[in-house]
Amino acid sequence: MLASRFSPRRLMIKSKEICPALFGDRKFYKLSVGQARAISMGNVDQFKAKYGGRFMVTMLPGDGIGPEMMGHVKEIFRLGGVPVDFEEVHLDSTVQNIDNVDEAITSIKRNGVAIKGNIETRSNSPLFKSRNVILRLELDLFVNVLHCKSQPGIRTRHKNIDIVLIRQNTEGEYSCLEHESSKGIVESIKVVTREKSEQIARFAFDYAIRNNRKKVTAVHKANIMKLADGLFLNTCAEISKEYPRIEFDNMIIDNCSMQLVSNPHQFDVLLLPNLYGNILNNIACGLVGGPGITSGKNFGQEYALFETGSRNTGKGIAGKNIANPVAMLNASVDLLEFLGLFKHAKIINDAIYQTVNVDKVHTPDLGGTAKTTDVIQNVLDIVLDKTRV
Ligand code: NAI
Repeated sequence: MLASRFSPRRLMIKSKEICPALFGDRKFYKLSVGQARAISMGNVDQFKAKYGGRFMVTMLPGDGIGPEMMGHVKEIFRLGGVPVDFEEVHLDSTVQNIDNVDEAITSIKRNGVAIKGNIETRSNSPLFKSRNVILRLELDLFVNVLHCKSQPGIRTRHKNIDIVLIRQNTEGEYSCLEHESSKGIVESIKVVTREKSEQIARFAFDYAIRNNRKKVTAVHKANIMKLADGLFLNTCAEISKEYPRIEFDNMIIDNCSMQLVSNPHQFDVLLLPNLYGNILNNIACGLVGGPGITSGKNFGQEYALFETGSRNTGKGIAGKNIANPVAMLNASVDLLEFLGLFKHAKIINDAIYQTVNVDKVHTPDLGGTAKTTDVIQNVLDIVLDKTRV
């Protein structure tokens, strides 16, 4: 059953057009910048389940530190008076059957929006499909957006980094098409389509226009994978001609990895195929403070899913009260912005900023000695102060 679900044909016949309401086609420019930004934040009621003035959001706690982080998000929302209820679905990463994955997908389709902890994928079991990848493919969450920005209160090698990574999220090396053609010979199929390359390129350029970005850099390995990465690169170059206001260049993935750690300030928006996107996402998160800081957004035509940027499970630190909760709190702020709950988003966002950069309540990953709950308490105190009637 899984094989047919993820066949290349199925990947290719998926939705033809980019959702005009969320991401804009040519018509997007007829909207004012303010309108376009509001819509891109998800201020479109048709995408969200709302009952009695409250939003219903699917919550997938995931593995490792995920459940603890979600507990903190729920507590901050509850005490901050945020009008959001969660429908929790616990995905069991220890079993091969995908019953509860179906349950999660049904819930997200009903609610339109989800927040998620990362789900462990055991590498040693070929039959076990990554729950994270299944969700992205089934919901056609074709883009992952990661904004890595230096925080003044966090000591890092490079200062003032401000890079956006736009990653194709549903094809390439993540097509789940592998087989052993004969004993000792494994073939893994990397699917690149013009349709998905166009879609992601348009998203990146639209994003650049809407967010006053100046340059988009497509990252590839077209010198070796001439057909697959060649198609991606050529398509990005073609689409770039429709956006003369945005500078376009390209860089080979190996060089880009080196440049990112040695001279990151040259980058503005990176436009990435799937696997390179995953790797550079992790490098970029590392540049601005590690796995505990940055959040990541996933969008499709119909659904949105919010999570931490580097998608680690943090299994080794689960239950120790030392994980940095900031990345998941930032994901919850992204969720609130998507729901159009800008006032609540701002209060929590400001509280996180003050905790990290002014009060400097830092967990061990940032060189501090604070517990997870110290960070949460600090955020909560500020939120309660701001929301007290
Ligand atoms: P991991 O979960 O072991 O984390 C890497 C390091 O970051 C560890 O030292 C961990 O303690 C630390 N860390 C993670 N979150 C933290 C936080 N909030 N605060 C402080 N420290 C934190 O990462 P790994 O080995 O990459 O992945 C574990 C599982 O996640 C695997 O099952 C993998 O399949 C799955 N996964 C990982 C992805 C990735 O991008 N790394 C993507 C998709 C799945």
